[in-house]
Amino acid sequence: MDEVSQIREKIDLVSFISEYLPLKKMGRNFTVVCPFHSEKTPSFVVSPERQIWHCFSCSKGGDAYTFLMEYENIEFGEALRILAKKTGIELRQSEFRKGQSSLKEKLFEINKLSLKFYKYILLEHSAGKPARDYLLEKRKLNKGIIDTFDLGFSPNTQSSLSDYLVKKKGFKPQDLLDAGISIQRNGKLMDFFRNRIIFPLFDHRGNVSGFSGRSLNETDMPKYINTKETPVYHKGSLFFGLNLAKEEIKQKADVIIVEGEFDTISLFMEGIKNVIAIKGTALTEEQVTLISRFSPKATLCLDQDEAGFEATKRSLLNLEKKGLTTNTIVLENAKDPDEAIKKDPIAFKKALKEAVNIYDFLISAYLSQNPKDTIEGKKKITQNLLPLFSQISNEIIKEHYIKKLSTNLDTSIESINREIEKIQKLTQEKIVPQSTDKRPRREILEEYLLSLIIQSPKQKETLEENKKLLKDYKFEVPAFLKILDSLSVYFAKNQNFDNRLFSNYLDSSLQKSFDVCFLYPLPKLDTFEKWSLEAKKVSFELLNLYAKERLKEITDEIKKTEDKESAKALKLKEEFSAVLRLLSQKA
Ligand code: UTP
Ligand code: MN
Repeated sequence: MDEVSQIREKIDLVSFISEYLPLKKMGRNFTVVCPFHSEKTPSFVVSPERQIWHCFSCSKGGDAYTFLMEYENIEFGEALRILAKKTGIELRQSEFRKGQSSLKEKLFEINKLSLKFYKYILLEHSAGKPARDYLLEKRKLNKGIIDTFDLGFSPNTQSSLSDYLVKKKGFKPQDLLDAGISIQRNGKLMDFFRNRIIFPLFDHRGNVSGFSGRSLNETDMPKYINTKETPVYHKGSLFFGLNLAKEEIKQKADVIIVEGEFDTISLFMEGIKNVIAIKGTALTEEQVTLISRFSPKATLCLDQDEAGFEATKRSLLNLEKKGLTTNTIVLENAKDPDEAIKKDPIAFKKALKEAVNIYDFLISAYLSQNPKDTIEGKKKITQNLLPLFSQISNEIIKEHYIKKLSTNLDTSIESINREIEKIQKLTQEKIVPQSTDKRPRREILEEYLLSLIIQSPKQKETLEENKKLLKDYKFEVPAFLKILDSLSVYFAKNQNFDNRLFSNYLDSSLQKSFDVCFLYPLPKLDTFEKWSLEAKKVSFELLNLYAKERLKEITDEIKKTEDKESAKALKLKEEFSAVLRLLSQKA
């Protein structure tokens, strides 16, 4: 057995995935809401028997390797190394041990070396003096915190970092362009960050994904620039500071979300360490998915301006989708947390303790902005709040806020509920439900039939009954027919179904389709009679659909033949009668 399979054998997939997701037992499988998209009802299934996972909503699936690759956004080689370490299996095969590093690994390496360079300039080099002064004096940081956050400085030169990486470290210019470290100007390589304070952006696993750079001079615009999108840097899926805050977030079961790098650092310096920054935008769905792994609760602490207020509102839908409880804090006399905590750390910590639920905050905000006693005021307030209330998934919480609003506006709960219903109708019409299966009906039914056969309490019987019914049927998906044939061959030799034995009869290219049918969530069929009847019903519908399609084709072909008495035409007519007989079988 090769190392890859050896490692797979050693891992129990249910306990492995349980380290990441709260699996619940459901019949002979385990389920949970899928981590790879937003959903309320679980479609993610793990089979202990087959040691596979599959999501019936987004159709991702596989084994421990593919799970880790999806979940951590890593490549196979890295997943292999992690699992080898976990299972204590030593990797001997040279291709995975060294050399052959993937593009992503190369970019991480370039970023790591660049970070060292930036740090050296900031801490040791004379070119770093203005930046050191800025950080220590103007922003009141200290050496310790600069080191903790691995801050650096990109000198005001054309290409000193690019030159270092090419000449001293042997990277190709294209590698540096791929990493976003360099840009090309008139055919020459030039550093992307020049004369900027450098903030490394780590992923939560500690790799340097990219950087942001703040201008030293207030007049240099833009104030911040970020690494462009690269294979290892996606702005919408990472936070500044998460690598440092991760453990504290888990421990406190709360994550404080701020806008900027300096907000994060200032809070951290005051001992508030469960803090991360979104870097000026609203929380994306990916970001919320990431933090929901560490905390059930979030405290928004965005800038106290119009943009911060809008970002708070826009983040809410994604937070609500993942079921995170969200609080927000209100700062007096400061534009952002950095300024607030520097002015008065005690008052800031008090404000943090007094954080209010986001919906309470929004109600007060809109009530204070609009006169609630006028018709226009009531309209403005409800127009802004009700779309947000309509997203609340917990009905009790939703009712709580509806009541609160109704009291404040002196209006009935019923009329608020009716308005919410209108909004829900509108949004429902717009959003197509994810779960609707858009495949052709026959394909869906073939998969369903195969699932009924494979999961049947008496597989052999169900298989034979339906094979007989479908002997003149032509499968839409050839793989499904092949699986049926493999099952027939298997049952010719074996009486009972056995997973391991059967895999010898199944071509490996069919494994995935087979797994999907094996896990397919079937309706409750409590007796074998009901089971058998359901399968037959599906077979008849398949036959019926096929016959109708075929009849139409034959009719078209007959129409096209010029001589209606030719041998070809006669043959078509014969087939027409035969197919017609198939159709009548239904009764
Ligand atoms: P702010 O404009 O509020 O900056 O943008 P700040 O955090 O107060 O910056 P300092 O204290 O003057 O240095 C909030 C965050 O949005 C991102 C940065 O991450 C910034 O910290 N941003 C801002 C950008 O990515 N690009 C920009 O041009 C400006
Ligand atoms: Mn700010």
